[in-house]
Amino acid sequence: MKEKLKKLVSDAITEINATSKEADLLNIKSKYLGKKSELNTLMSSLKDMSSSEKKEYGSLFNQIKKELEAKINSRLDELNNQVKFNFDNTLPAHYSKGSLHPVTIVAKEVTDILKRMGFTVVVGPEMDDDYHNFVALNIPENHPARDMQDTYWLSNGKLLRGHTSTNQVRAMQNYGAPIRICAPGRCFRNEDLDACHENTFFQLEGMVIDKQVSINNLIYVMRELLKEVFKTDVQVRLRPGFFPFVEPGFELDCSCLICGGKGCPTCKNSGWLELCPCGMIHPNVLKEGGIDPNEYMGFAFGLGLTRLAMMKYKINDIRVLNSGDLRRLNEFDIK
Ligand code: PHE
Repeated sequence: MKEKLKKLVSDAITEINATSKEADLLNIKSKYLGKKSELNTLMSSLKDMSSSEKKEYGSLFNQIKKELEAKINSRLDELNNQVKFNFDNTLPAHYSKGSLHPVTIVAKEVTDILKRMGFTVVVGPEMDDDYHNFVALNIPENHPARDMQDTYWLSNGKLLRGHTSTNQVRAMQNYGAPIRICAPGRCFRNEDLDACHENTFFQLEGMVIDKQVSINNLIYVMRELLKEVFKTDVQVRLRPGFFPFVEPGFELDCSCLICGGKGCPTCKNSGWLELCPCGMIHPNVLKEGGIDPNEYMGFAFGLGLTRLAMMKYKINDIRVLNSGDLRRLNEFDIK
């Protein structure tokens, strides 16, 4: 018996030292220490031994078990260390975590804030029709107000939406009143490209309709939103502005975040930045959406997400955003 055990141990140790793979080592473990192992079979003969033999072999079996286990574990450590050692840490690391696009980050931030104020996020098609882009918004065919947007017309009679206001009447017809929605999305206009103009940009439409909605509510929502986006108290002011689908209509400016309102080249020394056209929804638009203007009123705004991202991350050329040039996009320290 002792001879058998000796051979068993020496065979096991030879095999353990010869392996170079963790999986093989686990096989060896089950071969020598598992339920069907020779050692296990020998151990089951203990019950037929005399009590003095039992004592002697009992402790011998335990010793062998411990010894083999320790051998296997230390070989496992050895193999693991070898793997680490084989890793060449002098190789250059082509590793980039990547990040979200500045406009995506701002869009998510703004929609998160609005969601907390009870707004629902909706999306509409980028390829839309004359009705949603113009007619439903109180801009009839051949009306001069159409000139405010140099729209891309497609050969199928549709168009690339010039603003996210296309979602206004669509949402009214889909959901009725009262309603609070925001609709972020890509818009298109035929613009000559320069540092401030792109043919493809992002807006976020906001719309609230209820029985009692005032311009004060609009100012409050915009102020809270900007305060959270810029993490500082932002002053806002309204100037009259014309859009056929709002009455009265405004341009909402915010105090310049570059100079804090003192005046600088970015705000053309006025201390204010034009940020968000807005106004009280025109009764004709409510009617078009199937909502009674005598019962309900509302406000809408068209926040320029691209512009907001540029202000937040101090990006002075709009073309960077659509360039797909990671060398430029990576310049902004965006987490
Ligand atoms: N859709 C308008 C534009 O892009 C902005 C706007 C939205 C104005 C909502 C008033 C209300 O020019």
